[in-house]
Amino acid sequence: MVLTQSIGVESGLQYLSESQEPRESRSPNQELLPLTASVNSRDRLEIGGCEVTALVEQFGSPLYILDEETLRATSSQYRDAFKRYYPGESQVLYASKAWSCLAVCAIAASEGLGIDVVSSGEIKTALQAGVEPDKIYFHGNNKSRTEIELAVTSGCTIVADNWWDLKTLAELGKLGVSHKAGEPTRVMVRFTPGIECHTHDYIKTGQIDSKFGFDPNSLGEVFKFISEEPSLSCVGLHAHIGSQIFEVQPHHDLAEVIIQALTKARSYDLPATEINIGGGLGIRYTETDDPPSIQDWAQTICSAVVAACDRHQLPWPKLLCEPGRSLVGTACVTAYTVGSEKVIPGVRTYLSVDGGMSDNPRPITYQSVYRVLAANKMSAPLTETVTVAGKHCESGDILIKDAKLPKCQPGDILVVTATGAYNYSMASNYNRVPRPAAVLVNNGEVNTIVQRETDEDLLRFDRLPERLGVKK
Ligand code: LLP
Repeated sequence: MVLTQSIGVESGLQYLSESQEPRESRSPNQELLPLTASVNSRDRLEIGGCEVTALVEQFGSPLYILDEETLRATSSQYRDAFKRYYPGESQVLYASKAWSCLAVCAIAASEGLGIDVVSSGEIKTALQAGVEPDKIYFHGNNKSRTEIELAVTSGCTIVADNWWDLKTLAELGKLGVSHKAGEPTRVMVRFTPGIECHTHDYIKTGQIDSKFGFDPNSLGEVFKFISEEPSLSCVGLHAHIGSQIFEVQPHHDLAEVIIQALTKARSYDLPATEINIGGGLGIRYTETDDPPSIQDWAQTICSAVVAACDRHQLPWPKLLCEPGRSLVGTACVTAYTVGSEKVIPGVRTYLSVDGGMSDNPRPITYQSVYRVLAANKMSAPLTETVTVAGKHCESGDILIKDAKLPKCQPGDILVVTATGAYNYSMASNYNRVPRPAAVLVNNGEVNTIVQRETDEDLLRFDRLPERLGVKK
């Protein structure tokens, strides 16, 4: 799908979907804007039936605006696609590292999803959001003993990444630490499948040279260790190959590798009946990004797993996956207010906004490219090429280089699209800038889901020693 207007001058309207499909059958990860995006009679962008400029007036900026309908659409599309294409049992987990907060976890859970967590903070968020512990899977390459204990006693499944995890679990088992007395802890074993994919180096994980997961050559030893530990039950295997992936082939290939490893686990008499193929489906940040749909991704995986099971004469295992970005990424936009402008004749125009790398560190970290539109003049022609800069004291704090925008003034509201994943969750207080608020919009209703931090919040943890610079 090419998102350019066929007639007239280009304007912000070109970013709205041209799809004639009903909303519910569009795969949100293939869109730039949330499914409910529209332009009202005042030429202003609306998300979830709420005018973006009015939201900024009420809640301030920068503001994360999360569209509930889009998040529910991605969740239910994942859930239903696995039900449709996989003949065995399936469970979709939301990788909450993409955005962990009560509302997002509660919405995912209400759509039947479980949650993948990687810290005690994410465990407690999922539990408080009402996620059933038996649908919480605890990951991480350096879990602390306290975190493991919390996960075990809460009844979560532990995704063992390394010997430290297994030995800590075994020790806790000997001390009688469990969810229910006498009940073994559910353990999935994560390994590196040796599958490469085309994405940014920082977000590749499937290759052998990775900090995550057991080396596949050590799996025999791992299975033997677990089979001799009565407090542990190896329920299955896990592999994750990377993030923002636009091909389906790596996940197709993963099916064979993981089913082979499952066959091996079962030869140790382990009750291994689950596989988790991780997350990784990409989303559209710009018109040139062309990710597969949620349905196509799910269908490829399901048929590859079924074929691999046939080859190895294995019953269909319970099939899990754990998408993050493609569940929440497109559902959110960030609204900023335009402030200063610097024109360097013949060189560049910088247009600065009231946020930047502290609320969206992805451009400076991964050179990620985003799209931006002027929410209060959607049909104005895109006559300017400007660089949208953040407010931080760092030259690299650029949100969008060479953005196409209409002529903007201070006070105009800019919207950066597809900011739901790894924006709030990676936000910082660099330059002592408070983190933005987040609101949930749906059918004209708006609710705060994360309150805006204040300068006082930032000072809350500082302590000033009574005596400074004491000399002996
Ligand atoms: N499962 C595991 C074990 C993971 O490590 C990840 C992501 C996921 C699932 C979810 O992957 P997704 O569906 O979101 O691609 N901060 C980076 C992304 C880091 C991804 C880390 N792991 C970014 O902003 O691009």
